Amino acid sequence: MKIPVFLLLLITLSQVTLNPIVSVADSAYPSPYGIETTTSCQSTASDDLIPVRREVYGNGRIFDITHRLTPDMPSWDLEDGLGQFLWLPKSMKNGSLANNSEMKLPTHTGTHIDAPGHVYDHYFDAGFDVDTLDLEVLNEFMPFLESKMRVVCKLLVLTELLFVSTISLAFSSPNDAYPTGYGDEPGACVGASDDLRPLRREVYEDGQIFDITHQFNPNTPIGDSDEGIGQFLTLLSSMKNGSDYNFSELRLGVHAGTHVDAPGHMYEEYYDAGFDVDSLDLRVLNGPALLVDVPRDNNLTADVMQSLHIPKGVKRVLFRTLNTDRRLMWKKAFDTSYVGFMKDGAQWLVDNTDIKLVGIDYLSVAAFDDLLPAHHVFLKSREIILVEGLKLDDIEAGLYTVHCLPLRLLGAEGSPIRCILIK
Ligand SMILES: *[C@@H]1O[C@H](CO)[C@@H](O)[C@H](O)[C@H]1NC(C)=O
Ligand SMILES: *[C@@H]1O[C@H](CO)[C@@H](O)[C@H](O)[C@H]1NC(C)=O
Ligand SMILES: *[C@@H]1O[C@H](CO)[C@@H](O)[C@H](O)[C@H]1NC(C)=O
Ligand SMILES: *[C@@H]1O[C@H](CO)[C@@H](O)[C@H](O)[C@H]1NC(C)=O
Ligand SMILES: *[C@@H]1O[C@H](CO)[C@@H](O)[C@H](O)[C@H]1NC(C)=O
Ligand SMILES: [Zn+2]
Ligand SMILES: [Zn+2]
Repeated sequence: MKIPVFLLLLITLSQVTLNPIVSVADSAYPSPYGIETTTSCQSTASDDLIPVRREVYGNGRIFDITHRLTPDMPSWDLEDGLGQFLWLPKSMKNGSLANNSEMKLPTHTGTHIDAPGHVYDHYFDAGFDVDTLDLEVLNEFMPFLESKMRVVCKLLVLTELLFVSTISLAFSSPNDAYPTGYGDEPGACVGASDDLRPLRREVYEDGQIFDITHQFNPNTPIGDSDEGIGQFLTLLSSMKNGSDYNFSELRLGVHAGTHVDAPGHMYEEYYDAGFDVDSLDLRVLNGPALLVDVPRDNNLTADVMQSLHIPKGVKRVLFRTLNTDRRLMWKKAFDTSYVGFMKDGAQWLVDNTDIKLVGIDYLSVAAFDDLLPAHHVFLKSREIILVEGLKLDDIEAGLYTVHCLPLRLLGAEGSPIRCILIK
């Protein structure tokens, strides 16, 4: 069971890497699911308000093998399925600046992952949670993909795939996923049985893979709160009271920590038409990306954007700002003095660049003073995807391949997102 999935992911990721030049304007939202053709209907965004929900992208090169989360989907031990999993505790209807949903999900719902602590008491107690899982196991690293060598590499990739598929059969020693404590690099020989310290890594493979997602913990900041997200995990059943396993439930505002905004976040008609996170284009969220440092003395105005000289053709940019230096994402109290886009900066980007993925290092791409206007400029076309709360510390500015995958939360205007950079 494990190996086909592993290979599929591998193939998917390699193909994404090999096909960076894909996102023409309308391709983020082509015609509805089922009617998809390769030359998609060039319906102008404004008069066709039907979100696309795709399972396959780019002519069969990317397959989404994750189930969409819906109230009807099966959930462990629940006879009526998952049921309602999204709430709007604050909505524009009752005076909030934006709609901010909260999700509540048993952690073993739909397409999900088990950590060793699921059925082993001593692993649970020692902290072997999902945050300790090895991204190299989950995403095979391909060191040789240089942008100028892509054509040549297609052949190599095929060879590599065969090679890797052969090794991967012999690859599943349980210890690989859980090496020694933080700071040790992989490759070290580990006696897993007598060392129960989970490893939490930010960098893998000597600086080839960077986890640019913040860990969720009770101090994770969320807009409009001084207290962070607080307790976000609850044990629904536990071995201590007679269950065969421990089983947690997750309760989380969808704009907490590292997350993505859908067009419905700030546009009433998009929200009502269903432009949720499940309709975001995986081709925009995966591909070559530029990490840039912006001047630290200003918000992101048109002048600042112009001064960055981002070349035409660059589709994904992660902006590192003063927010990173101030370590704002590590502070649980929401801080409105963060750096973000002013309206004119957002407009300049839309008018003068090809950027479709905008990443930033605090909870909002828009500066607090221009919170709504800058969001509106970005989200209007429904072609630009906003990833917020990225962890960009200690990574050299430059060109990487980014992989960002949101949850498939039907109806949600935001979602936690896992993003990694591959050098
Ligand atoms: C705000 O409205 C939502 C429904 O949109 C409701 O569930 C919630 O209780 C309301 N909150 C307050 C404080 O009135
Ligand atoms: C289950 O949760 C309890 C805390 O209630 C913990 O002490 C125990 O180790 C967990 N067991 C497993 C198998 O995860
Ligand atoms: C089971 O144990 C958990 C803590 O581990 C507790 O919160 C919960 O109330 C218990 N449930 C029952 C039915 O006793
Ligand atoms: C906010 O939520 C309400 C439902 O309570 C919805 O009708 C409205 O369109 C939403 N607005 C935005 C901007 O998402
Ligand atoms: C950016 O704008 C915010 C208000 O939105 C302000 O508090 C902050 O000082 C500004 N930062 C810089 C570096 O100008
Ligand atoms: Zn958001
Ligand atoms: Zn936002």
